[in-house]
Amino acid sequence: MMGDQTIHRAAQIIKKGGIVTFPTETVYGLGANAFNPLAVARIFEVKRRPYFDPLIVHVANPSSVEKLTKETPSNAKKLIEKFWPGPLTIVLSKEEKIPDIVTAGLPTLAIRMPNHPMALALIEESECPIAAPSANPFGYVSPTTTEHVRDQLGDQVDLILDGGPCPVGVESTIVSFLEERPVLLRPGGVSLEEIESVIGKVEIPSIEGRPSAPGMLPKHYAPRTPIVLDRNQENSDLYKDKNIGLLLFQGPKDDPKCRFMEILSTKGDLREAAANLFAAIRRLDALNLDLIVAEPIPEVGLGRAIMDRLRRAASRRE
Ligand code: TXA
Ligand code: MG
Repeated sequence: MMGDQTIHRAAQIIKKGGIVTFPTETVYGLGANAFNPLAVARIFEVKRRPYFDPLIVHVANPSSVEKLTKETPSNAKKLIEKFWPGPLTIVLSKEEKIPDIVTAGLPTLAIRMPNHPMALALIEESECPIAAPSANPFGYVSPTTTEHVRDQLGDQVDLILDGGPCPVGVESTIVSFLEERPVLLRPGGVSLEEIESVIGKVEIPSIEGRPSAPGMLPKHYAPRTPIVLDRNQENSDLYKDKNIGLLLFQGPKDDPKCRFMEILSTKGDLREAAANLFAAIRRLDALNLDLIVAEPIPEVGLGRAIMDRLRRAASRRE
């Protein structure tokens, strides 16, 4: 952990147009002053992120929403009241003053207040909203520790703030309020059940057709090693001559022949599984295996976000 002084230095860097990686409760972010287009451009360069993929703007106070967006529908207000600070991002119509590079030219803004003391202190001291994607090269698994960040972006950022492992472990849930009905653009750290208990039914677009979520490419969150979702795991003939690793939810059903295995939660706890997911994928990815075989996870609560990430990681479509 680091002290106030490091946060102070990080804030000075943000103010001067630099880029800093910082912890949030979900995953590590790579941040810049949202009002500085040149600083934001550096984020896209470092991540090799296509400019058509907009960023989430992070704020330290719910009242910032009114300053950065046009009107806030009452259902959006209810979610903000209930889940902020927390792993929930809201998409609303943006105010003109937000630079186009942040929103990829869209008239909308994705905004969230993270639930992490270092993130909140950084935003406050920087005295600006912070535009930040996850701190990983585009398309790769998001980082949940500073080691992950250092491995991939270490020499390209101005400062790495260390807040230990991210407690939630999957990215924020994204809900759009541009249509009459709220739309779930990305399942994440706040479950659909929790959201619907506050505002009622939310639309769920199919994974293939999400025109309003440019970053929701079928192939995303992917390790270098090919990954397949398969209930049969290693026992299938398909994997006979392959060097495989298993990504299991609770543990092996029978005696595994496979030497490389990651178990997400022996208790079968979906929150614990989410918190372990990306680090487990990275460990398997480091072994130079032919294939990672992942066990499907129950699609309730955080299981929906986990399965969304696994399906995208396994997708062959770019
Ligand atoms: O938990 C999180 O949300 C993390 C932490 C760092 O806050 N951030 C994160 O950012 O996951 P990123 O850039 O990796 O993913 C943001 C997603 C992208 O898929 C992007 O397309 C979508 O949010 N997005 C951003 N602005 C949008 C907008 N105006 N309309 C629709 N989708 C948007
Ligand atoms: Mg990302």
